[in-house]
Amino acid sequence: MQYPTILSNPNLAFHLVKLTKSCFKKRIALVFPALLFTILVLAQDTAVISVQNNTKWTISKHIYGHFSEHLGHCIYGGYWVDSTLPVAKKDRIRLDIVEALRKIKVPNLRWPGGCFADEYHWRDGIGPRNQRPKMVNTNWGGVTEDNSFGTHEYLELCSLIGCEPFIAGNVGSGTVEEMSKWIEYLNFNGESPMANMRKANGRTEPWKVSFWGVGNETWGCGGNMTPDFYSDQYKRFASFAKDYPGAPLKKIVSGASDADYNWTETCMKKIPLWMMWGIGLHYYTIPTGSWAKKGSATSFDESEYFNTMKNALFMDKLVARHSAIMDKYDPDKKVALIVDEWGIWTDVEPGTNPGFLYQQNSLRDALVAASTLNIFNNHSERVRMANLAQTINVLQALILTDKEKILLTPTYHVFDLFKVHQDASYLDVNLKSPEYVSGDKKLAAVNASASKDSSGAVHISLVNIHPAKSITTVVYLSDINARNISGQILTAPQLTSVNTFDKPNAVQINNFTAFKKKENAVIVTLPAKSIVVLELK
Ligand code: AHR
Repeated sequence: MQYPTILSNPNLAFHLVKLTKSCFKKRIALVFPALLFTILVLAQDTAVISVQNNTKWTISKHIYGHFSEHLGHCIYGGYWVDSTLPVAKKDRIRLDIVEALRKIKVPNLRWPGGCFADEYHWRDGIGPRNQRPKMVNTNWGGVTEDNSFGTHEYLELCSLIGCEPFIAGNVGSGTVEEMSKWIEYLNFNGESPMANMRKANGRTEPWKVSFWGVGNETWGCGGNMTPDFYSDQYKRFASFAKDYPGAPLKKIVSGASDADYNWTETCMKKIPLWMMWGIGLHYYTIPTGSWAKKGSATSFDESEYFNTMKNALFMDKLVARHSAIMDKYDPDKKVALIVDEWGIWTDVEPGTNPGFLYQQNSLRDALVAASTLNIFNNHSERVRMANLAQTINVLQALILTDKEKILLTPTYHVFDLFKVHQDASYLDVNLKSPEYVSGDKKLAAVNASASKDSSGAVHISLVNIHPAKSITTVVYLSDINARNISGQILTAPQLTSVNTFDKPNAVQINNFTAFKKKENAVIVTLPAKSIVVLELK
């Protein structure tokens, strides 16, 4: 693809936009030709972003949440290792993983599934470990689950990471009584059979768990229910999921898959708003679009890359459409949309157990993650929680392990870069992007979001998904203070670049300096296939 270099001259772009603006202001006759010329030029080659200094709502830190299931080596051989493994541990929780997750400020961790949640019986995972019954993990490889990692171990993990627990309760094969008693065990601070059992198992204080999923994928592995049937079940289970003193629950409806808008519509219509804090949505990016042959994590051509990004960016439409349905029943946006499973899902690494969902993680995954987080930030008035699947060794993992070694994936670095948006004030971004064209299909090459933190610092996250073209991006700042500007970048030589146990830092964050301040704008040269976060103080 050839691009006219003269038009990507940052000064030219800047002056064109400035000229147009001043024509508008002075209402002079030049306004239309100038506008037209500017649009023509910018549409081709330059991204123009304007960031408003108009704080409206907070980007919930919980958008940056994660999901860890009893699946493959996420829990066992991931967080929870053999006591003989020569790594620093608390009990059997490995501390190098804890430290890495603390660094990116993981705000919440969803557990124990996924599909596993609806065959998990919590009583099997408490008490002396050598007396815990074993079970078969029928969803994930048919392996024997020894229940050595249960409620106490999970909550200890959350406390070490410094994150909030988010438990998905069993609706599919569980009972109302079983779920109700689990909550009493976790949250009641008085004298009761469950609270006494908790104390006998070594925990005096209740944990005060608040995020509570009422089932998982109840349209599929969680019970193959219709939305009508599930809505009724939800009301039963939720009625007995009690708020104990000082421990109110945030109950989350098991939500739709992808574009199943009827699911959202039915649940919103049938379940009273006061009975739910949020409603879920699950959407995975499948590179080829086919579940039968999803595509390799490390070997793909440009057309598969384009499809991957197209599928990932579909999240924007999904979130907008599910939100629009919610608006009909909840115009005040009291109920949160929770994207409690998302991420790229590829074929497993050759030679690994197909039931363990182990996949490598490339720069492409980082571009998927960063673009998706920009979408969530931009919809954060409604999207108030999200959970990437799944933290360690499974699907779009943050961390891969090989015995005592760990590596941080490109996706991990995205969460490191974007943590500045957690609980910051959302800022409106207007964006005009050049296109990334592949055959007869096109996508916006640049996406962005912005926020202002409690110290007044503004952060702008910019993603250029174009695989080959660096894009000049003019960022207008209105009255945002920008005396000091710094930047960080994540990119790599190839879209397929990965970190390996031999080269764990092949893809990593670097300082970024390819920008210039010009009056009230910053002109950024955004390299091909890159993620940049600017800090303006
Ligand atoms: O994340 C893997 C699986 O994907 C989860 O167990 C399930 O909820 C979803 O279908």
